[in-house]
Amino acid sequence: MGTAENDEEGGILKFSVNGKLQKVSPDISSQTLIQYLRDSGLTGTKLSCGEGNCGACTVLITSKKGGEFERYTVNACTTLVCTLHGSEVTTVEGLGSTQTTLHPVQERLYSCHGSQCGFCSPGMVMSMAGVLCKNSTPDIEDIVTGLQGNLCRCTGYRPILEAFSTFSSKPLAKSDQKFDSAEEEVETYDVSKFKDLKPEDLQISENTKQVLENIEQVKCVRFKSDGSKWFYPSTVAEALCLSKQFPEAVYRQGGTGGYKKFSSTEMKTVISLSSVLKMKEIVIQEEGILIGGGVTYSELVEGLKNLDIVKHRSAEVLKDTAAKIASTQLRNVATLVGGILWDHSASDMLPILTVAKAVLLVESEEGQRKIPVRPHVTKELSQGDIVGAVFIPNNSINDIIVYKKQAKRKTVELGVVNMALLANFENAVPHVSIVIGGVDLAVKQSTEGELIIASNVEKHLISIKDFPKSSTSALLKAIQLDFGKDQNQYKIQIISEMLTNIFKSEKKWNLKSHQLFEKTSATQSMIDPITRPVPHISAAEQCTGEAEYTGDVPKLANEVFLFPVHSTQSHAKIKSINTENALRVPGVVSWVSAQDVPGANIFAGAGPPDEHIFPEQDVHFSGQIIGVIAAVTPDAGKQAVSLVEVSYETKEALLSITDAVAKNSSFEISKLERIQDAELLKSTNKSFNGQIKLGGQLHIYMETHGAVAIPGKEKSEMIIYSSNQSISGVQKAVASALKVPQHKIVVKAKRIGGGFGGKEGPLITLITAVAANKLGRPCRLALDRTSDVLSMGHRHETHADYEIGFDETGKITKAKFECNFNAGCSRDLSVPWGATLLNRLDGGYSLKNFEGKAYPRKTNLTSNTAFRGFGGPEGTAIIEECIERIAQITGKDPAEVRKINLTRENDLLHYGDTKVYDDNLMRCWEDCIKKSDYFEKRKEIEAFNANPGNKNVRRGISIVPIKFAPFMPLKFLNQASAYVRIYTDGSILLSHGGIEMGQGLHTKMLQVASRVLKVPMEKFHLIETSTEININTTSTGGSTGTDLNGHAVVLACEDLAAKLAPLRDANPDMPWEQVIFQAYLQRIPLTAYGFYNRSQVEVDPKTNTGLAFNYLTTGVACTVVEVDCASGNHQVLSTNIVMDVGQSLNPAIDIGQVEGAFVQGYGYMTMEEVVHGLNGEIATNNK
Ligand SMILES: Cc1cc2nc3c(=O)[nH]c(=O)nc-3n(C[C@H](O)[C@H](O)[C@H](O)COP(=O)(O)OP(=O)(O)OC[C@H]3O[C@@H](n4cnc5c(N)ncnc54)[C@H](O)[C@@H]3O)c2cc1C
Ligand code: FES
Ligand code: FES
Repeated sequence: MGTAENDEEGGILKFSVNGKLQKVSPDISSQTLIQYLRDSGLTGTKLSCGEGNCGACTVLITSKKGGEFERYTVNACTTLVCTLHGSEVTTVEGLGSTQTTLHPVQERLYSCHGSQCGFCSPGMVMSMAGVLCKNSTPDIEDIVTGLQGNLCRCTGYRPILEAFSTFSSKPLAKSDQKFDSAEEEVETYDVSKFKDLKPEDLQISENTKQVLENIEQVKCVRFKSDGSKWFYPSTVAEALCLSKQFPEAVYRQGGTGGYKKFSSTEMKTVISLSSVLKMKEIVIQEEGILIGGGVTYSELVEGLKNLDIVKHRSAEVLKDTAAKIASTQLRNVATLVGGILWDHSASDMLPILTVAKAVLLVESEEGQRKIPVRPHVTKELSQGDIVGAVFIPNNSINDIIVYKKQAKRKTVELGVVNMALLANFENAVPHVSIVIGGVDLAVKQSTEGELIIASNVEKHLISIKDFPKSSTSALLKAIQLDFGKDQNQYKIQIISEMLTNIFKSEKKWNLKSHQLFEKTSATQSMIDPITRPVPHISAAEQCTGEAEYTGDVPKLANEVFLFPVHSTQSHAKIKSINTENALRVPGVVSWVSAQDVPGANIFAGAGPPDEHIFPEQDVHFSGQIIGVIAAVTPDAGKQAVSLVEVSYETKEALLSITDAVAKNSSFEISKLERIQDAELLKSTNKSFNGQIKLGGQLHIYMETHGAVAIPGKEKSEMIIYSSNQSISGVQKAVASALKVPQHKIVVKAKRIGGGFGGKEGPLITLITAVAANKLGRPCRLALDRTSDVLSMGHRHETHADYEIGFDETGKITKAKFECNFNAGCSRDLSVPWGATLLNRLDGGYSLKNFEGKAYPRKTNLTSNTAFRGFGGPEGTAIIEECIERIAQITGKDPAEVRKINLTRENDLLHYGDTKVYDDNLMRCWEDCIKKSDYFEKRKEIEAFNANPGNKNVRRGISIVPIKFAPFMPLKFLNQASAYVRIYTDGSILLSHGGIEMGQGLHTKMLQVASRVLKVPMEKFHLIETSTEININTTSTGGSTGTDLNGHAVVLACEDLAAKLAPLRDANPDMPWEQVIFQAYLQRIPLTAYGFYNRSQVEVDPKTNTGLAFNYLTTGVACTVVEVDCASGNHQVLSTNIVMDVGQSLNPAIDIGQVEGAFVQGYGYMTMEEVVHGLNGEIATNNK
């Protein structure tokens, strides 16, 4: 970072992006870097969470530190442009492109199938580039550390780690998987074809260095727009002087401590301390270590390597903890002192520094003073004080210092509870110091607590002169006394566990994997791509940032952005909405709400319309979008949103399933009954009943909901880009809202950044279209993550009551269920979801005598919606609890109970009249038992659990079958169309009605077309899905995308193949291009339309008859886990999944879907519960 030029009028900020010098007027430099990049057309950098939690926006910064250029990663969403003067920003576009050459990182991620929807891929690429800048042959720990801050919701991470581990001298190990001759032991990629990583792939060019060297330093940047100013002093004295001159000024370093306020407009005068070199020093002194007030976490970890760990035990613990804080991107900019002054109850640093008796060296006009670090130390600082350094005293010889943290995730997660302890029992006067912190994210009953100085526990430990070997009542009492009014039993138990296992260290994990799939027949034509692990057709573009998503549609002339105003009430009458002040904000164009909908302000999911675009009188959930502000800039829009005043008259709100049951509030109930085996029923030996409660889950698709609507100049036409799984559904809803025929509305989607069922509802596109219609100008709405979570539907929270009978063998003789689930405030898809849940309550089993009812409980929460599996994961979880209970009662191995109940060939399920065609589930079962070594592992686990040394740790194994009927519940939905067009040069354009959302649908469609036309895949192209081409499309979901659209593609290609057959047969050696040109000359039509409507799947719910499915996909997974029973920590030790997907069109894609689904399911079952606050607000929303 350069600094100097004293430009009172505010000069020009200079930095470079991908080697190009940028001269930026300070007026826009208070923007975040991501906004700047995306506005400049560099849309490869993706915005997902907007607050440093997901890594989608990762870029590389090159700046001078101590005379040398240094490269490190940062999150562009938390970086302000005005901090970049003199730096180079490298984005994913700057690394490589499909137009020139791919960077080795991009090439490997793409080739190893590490990119599905691709929305996380640019961030993954940049984080890995950051790892390689530090170490060109990193080991797997370096890679995992470098990617800690990057989320992927699609892949399950394995292919990403595998791709990047190819840079390591020890690539990801293969497990010792047994396989049989029908399976192929081949790689899904060819390492020998990868480009080597060269030094120049990681360095910035000499040219760019020159550009940076020539950038003069600045001392001050003034923003003409709002009069704010940023100062860059180079000494503490200068900073103090500025602070005296501008008493309203705030100090700033990494700027991450504001957390949710990265682009805060409140900061009018800022004194950036990042150029004060003296504050960057780490000095080892006689009495301790002095860490400069400007030292970042990354610099601290580097600077405290190789310490004398007897003398510097506290600093060592600080270093180890700092290495795990948040993400690499955050650690590269955030400072230790910023972390102390962040003064958060869950800070990792404050407890350690407090027990270590660290001291802040505070500089002021009056000179230096020392303040011991302790909770709320900020209160002891006066305006203008600068923390110049932190001093950590040396430890005594027998000091024990420990820091422990319990969080839901290992990284990028604040502790639910944490504890630092420094003890010395060897001193003449024994000493114990304990500080406890943490937040209440995971635990409903807790209130956010302050840091606790645990004096009662300290006294207890001193009295016993040691650490307790087990939890005693005296220890628990001491902890309870220290916790005061926050008697959260979970936290108390964790602290007790931490103290009784004080020296227990974290286990190292060992990543290994193996993927096997069926061999492609040796006789299959080499150009036929079916069954081959072809990479996703857009993966290269996804890894270079060229792939376009809805939010990347280039900005249009006259375009406005839309910003939602959300209801703060769960159920209330809107008394008034005052937008006067909001509309006065410069740049604000309009307020758009219910009055602006010319047609129907109500739309439907499945069933009668019951969801309003904008509320007319009442709001029905906290987070409901009341209206949107239209503005020409995001800053204006956000400011205006905060000025909209809504007054409410509160009404009674039903929030929980229990509330709704009590008030008998429900949408249409589904019932399903089939008693098909009276003999079995008679053999009932035992029965039990019970209840299982399953939480909701957020989709967290990496791309949030968004739309761009462009009103036409003529005849009410409108073109819409929408991140939706159902473009025809959107088209229909928009036409109805705008009161125009559907043919005026064109809806397009090139790809979407993950859907998982959460992007079926049209609301966001409807709002955008209504605004565009009102304003007559293009409108763009991209929900930020918080708004997305607030206003979009989630997985249904479900309570299931069950009554199960079984015979002596453990076979289920009868099964009765009553499922209540939280549908939220409108139907959306909840009624068919309930009916499908009833179908899927049998998991991988056949329930011969079944009774079920499903109640979609109407409440005042957001309207819950489809989520991967559509009742399948819930149904499986419910029946598996029953199976486990049978095993417990009978004392049998649960695997035995499962096997005896497994769905077999010729079984009639409890819905429809389709008999199961094959015995594939049993084949999967036997294969999985064999591959996982189930019985051997079980013995090992029993031995492990019997070992007294593993008292609190338990291992468990479970082997679970599933079956899944891919279908659309209504017959008319089982239709699809495809167009194939061949141009005179032989190139082929394919269009079908399915949406690409990472599941590889477009890739598979091209594979299918290639097989049928017998033309290499490279000849084909697919541009987008559009209602202009494929009409009346069925929403892409229910695992039907490939089946429906694939059949349509086959029909279209067969039609063309037949038309070309005479020419091709007569000229077997004629190149394809010539065949096509000849066909053109002979006036053979070179376009074909395929329409598929042959599926007869439809069950009449009244009679429970009809074809229930065309086929079942089946699978079995065996998982070994370790659970720490005291803390709740859990770890998957191994998983074997055997999945029968028929003849896989593309094993790499199918394996990717299976692994990704497994990890999403793991999150659902263990750590992703959606927690609502007392007023219906989502407590787990990005806190
Ligand atoms: C995504 C994310 C995840 C995080 N995860 C964790 C975590 O797991 N554990 C954890 O402990 N923390 C976590 N944090 C908090 C993080 O530790 C702090 O944000 C960071 O340390 C603040 O440092 P900074 O340099 O960015 O401070 P800034 O934001 O620049 O400053 C913070 C405050 O300190 C003042 N200040 C800064 N330096 C000085 C100085 N030298 N003298 C006087 N005043 C000063 C500023 O005026 C401001 O009020 C997380 C933050 C984010 C954004
Ligand atoms: S970290 Fe920047 S968008 Fe998520
Ligand atoms: S590929 Fe990672 S989020 Fe979709």
